[in-house]
Amino acid sequence: MSQAKEIVVLPGDGIGPEVTKEAVNVLEIVCKRHGHKLRIRSFPVGGASIDRYGRPLTDETLEACKDSEAVLLGAVGGDKWNDQPKDKRPESALLNLRKELDLYANLRPIKTYKSLIHASPLKPEIIEGVDIMIVRELTGGIYFGRPRLIEQTESGERAVDTKEYTTPEIKRVAHTAFETATVRNRKVTSVDKANVLDSSRLWRRTVEESAKQWPEIKLEHMLVDNCAMQLVRNPGQFDVILTGNMFGDILSDESSMITGSLGMLPSASIGEEYAMYEPVHGSAPDIAGQDKANPLAAIASVALMCRYSLDMPEAAQEIEEAIVATLHDGFRTADIASHFTKEHEVSTSEMGSAILKHLDSDLKPGIFL
Ligand code: IPM
Ligand code: MG
Repeated sequence: MSQAKEIVVLPGDGIGPEVTKEAVNVLEIVCKRHGHKLRIRSFPVGGASIDRYGRPLTDETLEACKDSEAVLLGAVGGDKWNDQPKDKRPESALLNLRKELDLYANLRPIKTYKSLIHASPLKPEIIEGVDIMIVRELTGGIYFGRPRLIEQTESGERAVDTKEYTTPEIKRVAHTAFETATVRNRKVTSVDKANVLDSSRLWRRTVEESAKQWPEIKLEHMLVDNCAMQLVRNPGQFDVILTGNMFGDILSDESSMITGSLGMLPSASIGEEYAMYEPVHGSAPDIAGQDKANPLAAIASVALMCRYSLDMPEAAQEIEEAIVATLHDGFRTADIASHFTKEHEVSTSEMGSAILKHLDSDLKPGIFL
């Protein structure tokens, strides 16, 4: 057996703890099968950390993340903490983690599952076979630019956010997008608003320059408003989408509808030294604690962890195949249930158990569904 791999789990708020629990079960089972030892430590983050320590992210939690091989995060946020000042809101934990761990590239794969084709509000012929990787810049842009303020003026208040990008910031995430495209369909669509914004003009020029190192990759540029439209008109045209922080946030939620539910989308946030994996969905306080949430995004995030951080590509594939097989068997959490096909609605934990069953057929029958 190799040395134990250190994994930090940050379940967070709302449905975060429920979905990460299922994802951790999956991680444990594949590690066991592949002879890898794990050491899993869990820490509160976001609202849970505010309740316990008065702060959304403690130094101890951040240090533990820095000592880990990979971090798995559930979700943060909820009405309970909405009145906190902005640096004490649960979301600031997420933004600080991304910044402190320098997780500049956020990979969000959007793939149609055949058996979920009717769960999408888009027509089957539009979404069939779609396989997109969104590469979102995650530590810059308008989320982090300075100045940012709200101030009093004579005529009321004035608020400022700053969208800022530098050449090195653009170059490194462009590098990730081109590298990603080399093992896919060799096409990168860089999305910006270069007809209006200077930060986008620099983005476009820098991506153009970087592309020279990858002559085998086809690069195209697209304005973000057009991209938002093309994603529902003809998503099959995209392979890798490279874009900035806020555009990536918006386009990835939009793209989730291709898969049928935001509850299906995993993500990997990667830097030079650290990596964090999290479902794209939020904390969904309205269904928290009811065993209703879809754990598949968290489980698919563990697959990405196996692939990008744990050097376990076979395990990643097994998890992804287990998801396909479980959906094929007709298991559906409420968010992906439709009335068109033969299927059974299951809870969060039942969905998790169904995945485990596919992953480890040696387990005793009877303990699962
Ligand atoms: C996401 C989320 C976050 C973001 C929020 C919770 C700060 O929407 O990961 O997409 O805007 O990045
Ligand atoms: Mg978002």
